[in-house]
Amino acid sequence: MKQLVFATNNKHKLSEIRNLVESEFSGTIKILSLKDISCFEEIPETGNTLEANASEKAFYVFNKYGYNCFADDTGLEIETLDGRPGVYSARYAGENCSFEDNMNKALKELDGIKNRNAKFRTVISLIIDGKETQFEGSVSGKMLNDKKGTEGFGYDPIFQADGFEISFAEMEINVKNRISHRGIATRKLLNHLKDLI
Ligand code: IMP
Repeated sequence: MKQLVFATNNKHKLSEIRNLVESEFSGTIKILSLKDISCFEEIPETGNTLEANASEKAFYVFNKYGYNCFADDTGLEIETLDGRPGVYSARYAGENCSFEDNMNKALKELDGIKNRNAKFRTVISLIIDGKETQFEGSVSGKMLNDKKGTEGFGYDPIFQADGFEISFAEMEINVKNRISHRGIATRKLLNHLKDLI
């Protein structure tokens, strides 16, 4: 069985990918966590782009631990803010800030601004035997004026995908997974893995 490390500390993402891989590659690919390989240190994320960060995280694990590996990085890119918060989406309102803090900051910056266009973008970097392949997924939409809904996480209550009248935080999880940045990038990764085994 081939082993592949997912370089994340996010338990939710890990179980999501494990479910997908188990249903598509049962018995052929095993997803290992950072804990499984005894990687307990914080993995550096020093890049200025999603591509650079995903790459840095995946290569860190490959170079230090010798496992084939993938890592992801996601950002919310708001058009009128020149793509901010982008790669800094997690700590937009400062180190250790909450999702609420980040949303409040985005709403304040967009106060009175008509152009509400934005997109979520995910980049996944896969390293197999030292060779990197990247996969991208994005979903375009609008920033709302107020928070709506209680599902999901991050900026979900203030983002509405094109073609929908509800926010990401009002959407059923399987619908969000079908259309989302991460869902799209993950499906590209899985299709690529199919060609490898
Ligand atoms: P990460 O790279 O997946 O950890 O994402 C970085 C940050 O982007 C998160 O801390 C969230 O604030 C935001 N984010 C990522 N994915 C989503 C999403 O699906 N909905 C809302 N916010 C998200």
